[in-house]
Amino acid sequence: MFRVPCFMFRVPCYMSKIITHSEKETIKFAARLAKQLKGGEIIGLIGDLGAGKTVFVKGLAKGLGIKETITSPTFVLMKVYRLSLNQKKIKNLVHIDAYRIQSSEDIIAIGASEYWQRPDTITVIEWADKIKTVLHRQAKFIKFKIKKEAREIEY
Ligand SMILES: Nc1ncnc2c1ncn2[C@@H]1O[C@H](COP(=O)(O)OP(=O)(O)OP(=O)(O)O)[C@@H](O)[C@H]1O
Ligand SMILES: [Mg+2]
Repeated sequence: MFRVPCFMFRVPCYMSKIITHSEKETIKFAARLAKQLKGGEIIGLIGDLGAGKTVFVKGLAKGLGIKETITSPTFVLMKVYRLSLNQKKIKNLVHIDAYRIQSSEDIIAIGASEYWQRPDTITVIEWADKIKTVLHRQAKFIKFKIKKEAREIEY
């Protein structure tokens, strides 16, 4: 396992990799990560088509207690899921898919960046590498790689 010191979700940690062998395992992993979130995090997901980014967001949503079905915002670009009252006062999960975004300005135009400073919001962005230049400095990145039937997730 590859481990280097880093900061994830404001706490010192090591950069780690895990291999998940099914959609269900990725959901479980993301749901566990969701429990560490405090609000205000911006999480960029990087990886090829079908690498498991949307599946990961489903897991995050599950971990945050969102009951709505998560679907990829490929055409609408951004979806906002409201959380019912929770102890951490997290109010929104913002799910962005930057795949079809032509320029970084587009992301500003749809109002996504307005959420980025809000401590009551978690933002998760698929294809975040396409808009890296406009992402807030505090964004954290998670990389997905397809390994035949499995997925390698570096976080
Ligand atoms: N270990 C795994 N983790 C996640 N998904 C997996 C895994 N193994 C197989 N899959 C399958 O891979 C696909 C991942 O699809 P998903 O929509 O999450 O990809 P994506 O990275 O969001 O792609 P896109 O760039 O098109 O948005 C699903 O069909 C899922 O069932
Ligand atoms: Mg997707």
